[in-house]
Amino acid sequence: MALVTGASRGIGRAIAVALAEQGAALAITARSADALEALARELRSSGATAEPFVADLRDAAAIERLAAAVDARFGRLDVLVNNAGVGHFAPLSDTSLAMWDELMALNARAPFLLCRAFVAQLRRAAPGTIVNLASVVGIRGYPGQAAYGASKHALVGLSRALTEELLGERVRVHTICPGGTATDMLRQARPDLDPGDAIQPHEIAELVVFLVTRTGNALIDQVQLRRAAAAP
Ligand SMILES: NC(=O)c1ccc[n+]([C@@H]2O[C@H](COP(=O)([O-])OP(=O)(O)OC[C@H]3O[C@@H](n4cnc5c(N)ncnc54)[C@H](OP(=O)(O)O)[C@@H]3O)[C@@H](O)[C@H]2O)c1
Repeated sequence: MALVTGASRGIGRAIAVALAEQGAALAITARSADALEALARELRSSGATAEPFVADLRDAAAIERLAAAVDARFGRLDVLVNNAGVGHFAPLSDTSLAMWDELMALNARAPFLLCRAFVAQLRRAAPGTIVNLASVVGIRGYPGQAAYGASKHALVGLSRALTEELLGERVRVHTICPGGTATDMLRQARPDLDPGDAIQPHEIAELVVFLVTRTGNALIDQVQLRRAAAAP
């Protein structure tokens, strides 16, 4: 049973579809009720179990309610995919406090709150898996992306520490750091790029399936994906 945040579109939607194809029951969350309902119907029509949960993950209380609702509906959680994120891209002087606060609230604080809220359910699953969608921007600095980059560096730091902290509790934590991926967010950040040349959401979904289904002793803690062709 897997929970995918930010499943209403983009990378999260592709991850939810791919996990359902592997036979996982799905809890899907985002703010857009219509898009979530449509995805749940689509997954169910293919025989999957899928339950939509509308939540604004900037709201700490909403995350607590989500954890309780998922526990009540499914009674377990094997995989938590922290994918929901927001992108605001601007030079330093044009970066408002509101932009900074929203980036931190959704990209850094929400994954912390979700990991904390769901860790008991993941421990019960043992092995449980957390997949955090960070970014190459969480590893390197890019001009015009200081606030977004800070939020993703925070997520990478959280994720790296939890990889070590939860290992002994049979909860594996993976950090995925993609480059530009063909979604609404990329179209907003890099209107100059052809989405057809970018990483495709299904390629990240395939990696998530690989990470959460593989067994063995090796822990793949962080994976970086870049566009095969050089960026202009
Ligand atoms: N696209 C890229 O180039 C790229 C590269 C590297 C990393 N990433 C990361 O990958 C993740 C997914 O990105 P994407 O490109 O698929 O973005 P996207 O197409 O903009 O989708 C973002 C998702 O997050 C949800 N979301 C936004 N605000 C939310 C809120 N306040 N509460 C709950 N859910 C919220 C959205 O749903 P609602 O609007 O319905 O709430 C949507 O499902 C993000 O963490 C992003 O930073 C993206």
